[in-house]
Amino acid sequence: MASRVVVVANQKGGVGKTTTAVNLAACLAALNHSVLLVDLDPQANATSGLGLEKTPGGSAYAALLGQEELIGKVQATTQPNLFIVPSELDLCGAEIELPRMDSHLQRLRRALQALQSEAHFDVIIIDCPPSLGVLTLNAFAAADSVLVPLQCEYYALEGISTVNWLMERVRQAGENPSLSMLGIVMTMYDGRTRLASQVVDEVSRHFGELVFETRIPRSTRLAEAPSHGRSIIQYDPCGTAAAAYEMLAQEVAARLGLGTAATDATAPSAWEAQPAAAQNVA
Ligand SMILES: Nc1ncnc2c1ncn2[C@@H]1O[C@H](COP(=O)(O)OP(=O)(O)OP(=O)(O)O)[C@@H](O)[C@H]1O
Ligand SMILES: [Mg+2]
Repeated sequence: MASRVVVVANQKGGVGKTTTAVNLAACLAALNHSVLLVDLDPQANATSGLGLEKTPGGSAYAALLGQEELIGKVQATTQPNLFIVPSELDLCGAEIELPRMDSHLQRLRRALQALQSEAHFDVIIIDCPPSLGVLTLNAFAAADSVLVPLQCEYYALEGISTVNWLMERVRQAGENPSLSMLGIVMTMYDGRTRLASQVVDEVSRHFGELVFETRIPRSTRLAEAPSHGRSIIQYDPCGTAAAAYEMLAQEVAARLGLGTAATDATAPSAWEAQPAAAQNVA
């Protein structure tokens, strides 16, 4: 069965895209699905959040330019079933270089297709930068569906209208006619404030069942975990934030039609034997 490719996107900064991409990927991997996280943000927060160093030449950049295969950039993490294509600053160059190339919005799709003939992943999750540039457009062109984290704050709806607009443009331009919305996850939810529940009510009124039932609570542990190079289920496995991302992973797996106990991870054994990330995590 083909991998499900999900892009985590919202052009607003700091709404929980990377936190969601990393922890959703970790929780899906813990459910025994083989997961590849592609860090497409030059900030490389997902990369450092999983304890990997930024290594020159280690990102998807050369694969986007068609110079190298993406499979060569895949690294193991400290968690079984969870792999990553890390990011580093050279990805900034993509915004300048790619628009000069032919089919420049199809570059990630092609790189992922080539990768899928070498190794099977049940799910590929792409973490995007907070911009609508060429990297985000490549992610939208490569994905089956879009997952939108919305921070429980006043202007939350603005983020989603821009994502919807971009999805429509990508579909109509023929870059990815079947791109769909996987769902909206409310992040940094603080049940003690009236604002948080008002925002959830308003988003639910507009988007109904597209909104995941699971809300991600505001949690200091969640903000601390990346500085330890750990996902929340490694850093604070019994906390409320870990429980929330575990529930979100169940909802996402159901929407993606993933079986409950996939065991067909066929990642090359060399990755298992040499988990590069393990050497970088204290
Ligand atoms: N549920 C949460 N509770 C507390 N802090 C959170 C939560 N989710 C994210 N954070 C923190 O908020 C900040 C922004 O989160 P994150 O990096 O995931 O957002 P982002 O949308 O990826 O940002 P950017 O647009 O810069 O890529 C980080 O410091 C993160 O640790
Ligand atoms: Mg981010």
